[in-house]
Amino acid sequence: MRALTIRRPDDWHLHLRDGDMLKGVIGDTSRHFARAIIMPNLVPPVVTTADAQAYRERILAALPKGDRFEPLMTLYLTEQTSPDDVEAGKASGLITAVKLYPAGATTNSHGGVRDLDKAMPVLERMAKIGLPLCVHGEVTTPEVDIFDREAVFIDTVLDPLRRRLPDLKVTMEHVTTKEGIDYIRESQHNLAGSITTHHLMINRNAILVGGIRPHYYCLPVAKREHHRLALRAAAVSGDARFFLGTDSAPHIDPLKECGCGCAGIYTSINTMSCLAHVFEEENALDRLEAFTSLNGPAWYGLLPNEERITLTKGDSPIKFPAKIETDAGIVTVFDPLVPLYWHVASS
Ligand code: NCD
Ligand code: ZN
Repeated sequence: MRALTIRRPDDWHLHLRDGDMLKGVIGDTSRHFARAIIMPNLVPPVVTTADAQAYRERILAALPKGDRFEPLMTLYLTEQTSPDDVEAGKASGLITAVKLYPAGATTNSHGGVRDLDKAMPVLERMAKIGLPLCVHGEVTTPEVDIFDREAVFIDTVLDPLRRRLPDLKVTMEHVTTKEGIDYIRESQHNLAGSITTHHLMINRNAILVGGIRPHYYCLPVAKREHHRLALRAAAVSGDARFFLGTDSAPHIDPLKECGCGCAGIYTSINTMSCLAHVFEEENALDRLEAFTSLNGPAWYGLLPNEERITLTKGDSPIKFPAKIETDAGIVTVFDPLVPLYWHVASS
């Protein structure tokens, strides 16, 4: 197959940041994607419906002229979040989901939740009104090894929460382990998982072999190869519970290339080429559309996009920039470590 036309994709987990960074990166998403779930971990975070409304307007104002793109807004769950504000946000159509960051789990998460009991009134309201909870599924307990944090989260936080609130719809975001995939597969209802582009392409060797490579460091951190293979199998399976969430997370180079580099990989610009490559390797190009354009909207109760994009496969590797320049600084683009031949020919 040399050409593939699919419904326009959506990105169910995206960091756009704010200000100059937002202006520098949004076009890389709006070029190919119709919608994205926008992460609320700004500094300070997006905690109220009013914050989300203002942020949405800044996103729309930053869009390149002529691009049509719908930001799907989320609220950053805190122990003080008001159930009424969340319900009003959903009722107005502004809020698509609420995001749980365990405090300290990742970039800009210090204001996240320490004691889930304190967030129960909001979670109960969300279960009642059918508003999904997006979860960064890692424990932050210092004793737990960083490579085990997702699996321990499932056993000690996620599963008890789902038993307590079976009506709560939960998206386990950026699943990185076979345990996560198996847990979603075994679930009967109200659980789905997003998978990033980079976790389908790299394992932890990319970060550590031959020198420390900060541009492959993200959270949850990439795991062993057998986990990557489990993610691939789930992504290409067509199972409606798995869909794309790139977790494209731009940071300027000096913040990644230093003694304590921050977590995040920037993939918006070449995600569709990477995914076509992965799905072709897995003989599953016919299921790419389910992963990028059908399963996500179905889970969030939205219609798939009517517009189409066409991917074509060239004879020589495509070129994309190694770095992009923004007014906030230079951002390194994800290097998938293999040549890519597919590109979005029309969108
Ligand atoms: C994200 C970021 O930079 O905001 N980083 C990352 O490594 N994925 C936060 C997150 O989603 O964990
Ligand atoms: Zn993220």
